[in-house]
Amino acid sequence: MNLIVAVDKNWAIGKENKLLVSIPADMKFFRQETTGKVVVMGRKTLESFPGGLPLKNRTNIVLTRDKNYQAKGAVIVHTLEELLKELEKYPAEEVYCIGGESIYRLLLPYCDTAHITKIDYGYEADRYFPNLDESGEWEVTASSEEQTYFDLEYRFVKYVRKAK
Ligand SMILES: NC(=O)c1ccc[n+]([C@@H]2O[C@H](COP(=O)([O-])OP(=O)(O)OC[C@H]3O[C@@H](n4cnc5c(N)ncnc54)[C@H](OP(=O)(O)O)[C@@H]3O)[C@@H](O)[C@H]2O)c1
Repeated sequence: MNLIVAVDKNWAIGKENKLLVSIPADMKFFRQETTGKVVVMGRKTLESFPGGLPLKNRTNIVLTRDKNYQAKGAVIVHTLEELLKELEKYPAEEVYCIGGESIYRLLLPYCDTAHITKIDYGYEADRYFPNLDESGEWEVTASSEEQTYFDLEYRFVKYVRKAK
């Protein structure tokens, strides 16, 4: 399984159920990477999207503990076990965990590739992603040139889980 996330310099990812910043080239990268694939998200991340709607041209799988929850155009699952069963239908390399914090933490042990947009700024935040540089379990296999969006500097970094 893959994951894809944008983090700030403190590995922060969100505040008040919103992204910290929206960088058009990062949104484009996200779209290119996930289109035609399977995206797995938490209920709060689904509800953070425009209109609370699933992402187009992708199979959307949403985790919630609410048995009555429905979202048109999304597959709803209620436990990790139910999710893993559902994911047996798809090749692991076509599945992307897209957040938020609770779902990244839940699925990180099942991920072997992480596409991380690293933004060189520290925002006020209330949601974080685990620091892969400190974990010792991940290595950087590719890093883009530094990109800029107005005053912001960021780069696209690919991490792969180290062989045991
Ligand atoms: N920077 C990025 O790349 C990025 C990407 C995605 C999201 N975000 C940000 O992350 C924040 C949201 O993260 P979050 O942690 O608050 O919410 P979240 O992970 O999107 O969703 C949390 C919800 O998922 C469900 N859930 C979690 N664990 C579950 C489990 N084991 N089994 C069944 N359901 C489970 C629960 O839904 P119920 O309450 O319905 O039971 C829970 O309330 C927002 O600020 C968002 O903008 C950032």
